[in-house]
Amino acid sequence: MSGYFITGTDTGVGKTVVTLAVMELLKRRGFEVAGMKPVASGCSPGPEGLRNSDAVQIMQACSSGLPYSQVNPYAFEAAIAPHIAAARSGESIRITKIVSICRDLEDSADRVVVEGVGGWAVPLGSETMLPDLACRLKLPVILVVGLRLGCINHALLTASAIKSTGLEFCGWIANQQQPRIEAMDEIINTLRECIDVPLLGTLPWREEPNPGEMAEYLDEFP
Ligand SMILES: Nc1ncnc2c1ncn2[C@@H]1O[C@H](COP(=O)(O)OP(=O)(O)OP(=O)(O)O)[C@@H](O)[C@H]1O
Ligand SMILES: [Mg+2]
Repeated sequence: MSGYFITGTDTGVGKTVVTLAVMELLKRRGFEVAGMKPVASGCSPGPEGLRNSDAVQIMQACSSGLPYSQVNPYAFEAAIAPHIAAARSGESIRITKIVSICRDLEDSADRVVVEGVGGWAVPLGSETMLPDLACRLKLPVILVVGLRLGCINHALLTASAIKSTGLEFCGWIANQQQPRIEAMDEIINTLRECIDVPLLGTLPWREEPNPGEMAEYLDEFP
């Protein structure tokens, strides 16, 4: 096993919080860790080009310094669906390019943690979807469930779609993204009964989530 692919039930459910926590946990276990956010929309222009805050945090969390272009090869300014952002900027997202960068990172690090984009059924181009990328990367998948009303539907549909790819689905993480969630324990228990891969941890709500603390909650991480 050379890493993990972190996906979520939607955009904004805690994939970056989890990616940084997993990177922290792996570093504590003594691994050299690299991270990627291969495709990011919602980037800000800077002196050295477009920068995405998820990718910058992931870059800073890597065990050794990596150029931004390796962490985030596809950066788009507009905060819109990636295939639309790519089309508007006249670019096409090439899975082979992402896979080749990831293989280079796998050669230099012990573990590579890749944050997906949006949810799971995300188009990357007219003929490619995010799961096609995940299948080419061949990394075990972790599903982040942002706990909220409606997340059972999102989680079960996503879990079933991940399984249908035949990829290793190593577990899911419950993320308490809001200070109060009605029936949170019952939601988690329902998901535990319905998803037949392990719950790797439940992340609590924190005003400012900190990867070091969040790593402590990944108590069932393999
Ligand atoms: N456990 C938590 N407690 C408090 N806030 C959280 C928690 N998890 C996530 N958040 C906040 O929710 C927001 C979305 O989280 P995050 O950026 O990790 O989601 P994402 O799935 O990576 O989003 P994107 O699709 O934009 O990449 C962030 O502001 C983050 O700080
Ligand atoms: Mg993110």
